[in-house]
Amino acid sequence: MTSAFPLARTAAPVPDDQRAAILAAPGFGLHFTDHMALAHWTPEAGWHDRKVQALEPFSLHPSAAVLHYAQEIFEGLKAYRRADGSIWLFRPEINARRFRRSAERMGLPPLSEEDFLESVEALVRADEAWVPEPTGEESLYLRPFMFAAEAFLGVRPARRVVYSVIACPAQPYFAYGGVTLWVSTSFTRAAVGGTGATKCGGNYGASLAAQAEAEQNGCDQVLYLDGAGENGCIEESGAMNLFLVTAQGDLVTPALGTILEGVTRNTALALASEFGLTPVERQVTFAELRAGIADGTVTEVFATGTAAVITPVTGIKGDGYAFSIGEGGPGKLALALRERVLDIQYGRVPDSYGWLRRV
Ligand code: COI
Repeated sequence: MTSAFPLARTAAPVPDDQRAAILAAPGFGLHFTDHMALAHWTPEAGWHDRKVQALEPFSLHPSAAVLHYAQEIFEGLKAYRRADGSIWLFRPEINARRFRRSAERMGLPPLSEEDFLESVEALVRADEAWVPEPTGEESLYLRPFMFAAEAFLGVRPARRVVYSVIACPAQPYFAYGGVTLWVSTSFTRAAVGGTGATKCGGNYGASLAAQAEAEQNGCDQVLYLDGAGENGCIEESGAMNLFLVTAQGDLVTPALGTILEGVTRNTALALASEFGLTPVERQVTFAELRAGIADGTVTEVFATGTAAVITPVTGIKGDGYAFSIGEGGPGKLALALRERVLDIQYGRVPDSYGWLRRV
């Protein structure tokens, strides 16, 4: 079958010994594969010039709209190699649909679900040798993205847009021993009607000062509250959604609205009943979280994300207070859920939910 994203120009591949050294300890987002997928859009031609080609830098006019007004969106998903060598994607249709919603919010031209899936699969096929062996938790992280490439300083949706997919072999983003969260009262991530539910670069650029504040206070990541600060509700953690496990058996996560609708968030909710938990999406006040940790009615906190998988939260700190969660180590349920998700992703257990798609 011919691909809508044909291999137009092959790259001189990274030599086998160099690639093997990278795959032995890839880190995250450091080393990129030999190829990239590309497509271009104009109002006259729509999406066109779809292809996979050698990875190379973009050439952009200094006035390109993305550099000035951040008209840009992205996605993150992973390809997993199984013990039999086959390669699979995990729920990529959800990423495709979220990418479309992000495009709509940012005035970018929507890409069809078919183009999204085919571009990702064509790149994985071209760079198949870069998908790590399933000996640990390594995978090939795929980064589809779209940006305004028109040379024009007026503030309106660009009339030249580029879509691309790049890939990097990746280890888990966080050590699964857990992370600590800093409760930021100086920074809010999103407001009603804003771009909190959109996966756009601007959200991540705006998170960097809050992240620096968290690190200055000895924490790994930020716990964002809504605009009402400590009198309000918890939202998410920038690169991850948040979950609480309650003593009465609920798996609670903040309701959608101003947070990102994570694929792993949705997966954790779907798997809750396997662990005897009731999935609950609702607003969670910071006061409830704090009191629940203090009196033991909140037994675990964890975070979810494609890069982070399921990452236990071991402690929370804010201005003038700090508390550990449970025994201060990773929660049992978070670790068990993490294993269950990884077992499904690597095909070590039957795909009873129909979540995997073979490349
Ligand atoms: C992902 O989990 O795919 C993300 O986008 C997080 C990333 C910013 C590291």
